Amino acid sequence: MKYPIVKPFLPPLNNYTAHIASVFERNWLTNNGPCLQKLEQQLAGYFNVEHLLLVANGTLALQVAFAALNIDTNESGCVLTTPFSFAATASSLCFANLTPEFIDIDPETYNIDIAKASEAQLNKATAILGVHVFGNPCDVAGIERAAKQHNLKVIYDAAHAFASDIKNTDNDMTITSVLHKGDVATLSLHATKLFHSVEGGAIVFKHKADYLKAKQLINFGFDAQQYPEFVGINAKMSEVHAAMGLSVFEHLDHITSWRQQLSKRYTERLKAINTVQLQVWHCDGNNNGAYMPVVFESQTLLLKVQAALTEVGVQTRRYFFPSLSQVPAYGMRGDTPLANSLSERILCLPMFTDLTLDGVDEICDHLMTVLKANT
Ligand SMILES: Cc1ncc(COP(=O)(O)O)c(C=O)c1O
Repeated sequence: MKYPIVKPFLPPLNNYTAHIASVFERNWLTNNGPCLQKLEQQLAGYFNVEHLLLVANGTLALQVAFAALNIDTNESGCVLTTPFSFAATASSLCFANLTPEFIDIDPETYNIDIAKASEAQLNKATAILGVHVFGNPCDVAGIERAAKQHNLKVIYDAAHAFASDIKNTDNDMTITSVLHKGDVATLSLHATKLFHSVEGGAIVFKHKADYLKAKQLINFGFDAQQYPEFVGINAKMSEVHAAMGLSVFEHLDHITSWRQQLSKRYTERLKAINTVQLQVWHCDGNNNGAYMPVVFESQTLLLKVQAALTEVGVQTRRYFFPSLSQVPAYGMRGDTPLANSLSERILCLPMFTDLTLDGVDEICDHLMTVLKANT
């Protein structure tokens, strides 16, 4: 494919091997090693957060977050979440024996619309699991309000939200990472993400006690005497992965600024096409350039476009399809017509740091040609 949907960012090889050489010298391959500690410090500084923990992937990040916060849905409770997300959002709940109840989305931002949760749903919920879809900050103010009123924990699956900032409208209007929102926020550092460590994840906690509990949870629940104080898991990030994170971190300014330019160019070009819709970004947020979704009038049109783009070397991905509320394995609780419709009509276009502005133009030209022939 001339234009794959995503291409992992690779730092110069000698950059990575320098970090790996230090790992070999120390022969300290995992268990809270120096590369991991350095990467945790760098990321905590970058996001300006106090309690950040690196883990093996973004799915375990969610599961550890649920356990650290003692989220429980017992027999009749539930966690309110969005049906428009990647499988991991719902599957991590089910895997932890928690019950997802799907709340419909805002059709413009694609994020959970907590105003659509009924009083009955809010009353039986123990937590809200929002997703900053494609990096677009959720309605964090509305979610916070609902959570306060109903005494709910707030977890954000921020897998896509590296470098997503939002204005602190409630106090001083300063800009902060969206990871500051909620009781806990989780990131995926998978190879396809804007910032990555091949496989990896991070968890940002509001409260130190939750962070300390999670630090133990990711290492089998061991206390300082290596005694398993409670049931834990192995969710540790290795030195080899942390070394990749450190190498990619050196290029972060370039990655974020270039992807913002790519997304600006895509938006300028696609805005001119009146048969596609674009995601409406949170009014107090900035587009982090993580993904480039476009929405078509119908699934039939989407399938034609996808086939035609594949023929000219442009790979696209139906992200996210199907709606999670239509997957029997996730319990299918909740009525979500807007998310179901969006899932059928949304396609992500190629987006990766190596993409050029000419590449974006070529992809948009192809898309316009295909649409002209089919509408
Ligand atoms: C919204 C969302 N949550 C969670 C995950 C899981 O992350 P990981 O692949 O690192 O386990 C992903 C992965 O893409 C995701 O898109």
